[in-house]
Amino acid sequence: MFASRMGDPAVLDLSVNTPVAMASDAFAKAVERAIKAPGMDWQGYASRKLIQRLRLAGARWLETRGIMARPEEIVPVAGGQAALAAILGVLDIKSLGIEAQTYSGVIALAQGRALKTIDLHMDGDGVLPKSLTDAGVDAAILTPTLHNPTGKIWSKARRRDLLAVAARSGTLVIEDDAYGPLADIEPMTALPSGASTLFVSTLSKIVAPGLRTAFIWGRGQTIEKLSSAIYATGWGMAPLMMEVAVQWIESGVVNEQIAAQRLEIEARHRLATAFFPELRGNPPSPHIFLKTCAPAELFELAGVRVAGSSAFSRRPVANAGIRISLSAAPSRVALDVALSRCAEVTRAHARL
Ligand SMILES: Cc1ncc(COP(=O)(O)O)c(C=O)c1O
Repeated sequence: MFASRMGDPAVLDLSVNTPVAMASDAFAKAVERAIKAPGMDWQGYASRKLIQRLRLAGARWLETRGIMARPEEIVPVAGGQAALAAILGVLDIKSLGIEAQTYSGVIALAQGRALKTIDLHMDGDGVLPKSLTDAGVDAAILTPTLHNPTGKIWSKARRRDLLAVAARSGTLVIEDDAYGPLADIEPMTALPSGASTLFVSTLSKIVAPGLRTAFIWGRGQTIEKLSSAIYATGWGMAPLMMEVAVQWIESGVVNEQIAAQRLEIEARHRLATAFFPELRGNPPSPHIFLKTCAPAELFELAGVRVAGSSAFSRRPVANAGIRISLSAAPSRVALDVALSRCAEVTRAHARL
């Protein structure tokens, strides 16, 4: 029906959530420093020593998220998606609750396994506690902070209610904190509760996806099981990137990056609000979700690649809309042009 503009360099790709690009030579310099790190075998598998250093760095990192973790409670993995796959692969999870609107990787993970998957209904404040009760699942993957795709932050009351339900029903809460460091709210996992939780923190959305670095944190038998499978998960990481991650966490570069990301995202979100007033009152999120029946292909024809609702939901018609990644634009000027085109498309389609 639509002529494809795949591969057309004139199309601005705002369909993938990536952090705002950092100064071009920062990554190269970090890699050079890492290569020169004493005793570094960057052609080999990660050594136990390097894994241990990354665990220690992970503990330091999680402290900034309000989580006091011991290194042995941390499992480093090659990104958030690998973390979720490791959890589902290693633990005995037979039924899984997923947000009715969720990040595409979760849908893909659920589809690829012999697992009973139940959609958890949501309102503007996140997953409904009753839906979690009714689902009665072994585990649920939740993204309460700058949820993907909606960009919402679930209230503290909702978080507490969900934890209470999980504690009652013995549901393991897997909190995906991919965007958490970009917001001012403590993770759900840091709240006192009787629920069993696993916390997944990736550096992909706040520093660089190419680092392929994430941490899983939890307590007791759950994390012990994951930890003893570390060679099935940790081997997926490239030693060079592990070294960069360690150095960036230890030197505070990660925190500087987050501060810079947050400033830029605030400005970009303000810009988006000018085009789409319905976003007013939403937290400054690196991505926005617009409710529209206009298909993603129409935006592509207008020169902007966006992600359509079928990427985020198993019932896309019930959640029709598009997600635009504000942080993926190379500049605010480019974003301004793209948003104005998207606004035109949504307005024109609403008039049909
Ligand atoms: C909510 C959420 N979790 C996890 C991931 C995966 O991140 P990673 O690149 O670290 O695998 C993404 C990527 O889009 C995401 O949006």
